[in-house]
Amino acid sequence: MRLLPTMSCQAGMRLGKCIFSEEGIVLLNAGAELNEALIRRLQQFGIDYLYIADPVTEDVCISDPISDETRARAIQEVRTHFRSFMEKNSMSKVSKGQVLGRAFGNVMKMIIDDLSDNKPGTLIMLTNMNVMNNYLYQHSLNVCIYVTMLGMVNGYTREQLMTIGMGALLHDIGLTKVPASLLNKAGRLTPQEYEEIKKHPELGFKLLKDEPNMPLLSAHCAFQHHEREDGSGYPRGIGSKDIHEYAKWIAVADSYDAMTTHRAHRSAMLPHQAMEILFAGVGTLYDQKKVALFRDNVAIYPLGVTVQLSSREKGVVVGINPAVPQRPMIRVLEDADGQKLSQPYEVDLSEKLTLFIEQVEV
Ligand SMILES: [Fe+2]
Repeated sequence: MRLLPTMSCQAGMRLGKCIFSEEGIVLLNAGAELNEALIRRLQQFGIDYLYIADPVTEDVCISDPISDETRARAIQEVRTHFRSFMEKNSMSKVSKGQVLGRAFGNVMKMIIDDLSDNKPGTLIMLTNMNVMNNYLYQHSLNVCIYVTMLGMVNGYTREQLMTIGMGALLHDIGLTKVPASLLNKAGRLTPQEYEEIKKHPELGFKLLKDEPNMPLLSAHCAFQHHEREDGSGYPRGIGSKDIHEYAKWIAVADSYDAMTTHRAHRSAMLPHQAMEILFAGVGTLYDQKKVALFRDNVAIYPLGVTVQLSSREKGVVVGINPAVPQRPMIRVLEDADGQKLSQPYEVDLSEKLTLFIEQVEV
């Protein structure tokens, strides 16, 4: 299976993974054949990349760090609760009967159990490019997966993982109180509109802080996730020493996931591009150690992505050595002149140090 930009997909190709709706329902099955109309529709739905079943990469399996069941359940809870917040005008408690804290606690247990089943050293690679995403719901779950997995690598206890994970799942819940027209606006926001958006951390904190079964620290994750190391963030402009470390993790994962996801105003960036931007913000915006741990545990070149090497040959990433994730194993499919090789061969960039990845197909 390989990952191709939807715009480069052609009629007759077959899907390597199924496509889910926003509610987690399967819309198209793995193996479904693409046609022109379908490709156009998928693009319109904001799906920038597709997993394609392809004979030359048949042996490449790309699996998600959490099960489809857990993903569907998590999205369902996020969606249900976010919607109910959107529909209520008052800021008063909406989830009577301790529903919110308990529901998200149960989801977190499933996520932690799934992630614990992954082999140690497994790089995080979210394969949710095949989801018709309502940005807010998918984003909440992605950020949660990133920080929970990094928390595990960092040695957090299960209780700490529950707290940071709930904080991550709900970090943007304050956005439910911001007009939807602003969130989905395709053009630039006016300064006044931006001020409205900037209220969401505090709104989120107020929504969560008195919820039963909700750790107060999780509410602080919502409050502080846009604060930055040098004090340039919002809403309070607090600096490195006053930002809780959970919020610092969420800041990194939140920025990264926002960049690698399709939005109304721009297409998704590829992981290595987003990682460069994170590194540019080390020290000023983000905590240096957290960005470094993030880089070491997230697949910069995801399995299945097409790359061009410095030799001008083209191939697909078919293996990742966790010790050197920036130098994956490549199956070369085309020579320097763009001719398809009758006998593809593999090159391990962690050994062949004179070769490097020059471009990723976008
Ligand atoms: Fe946010």
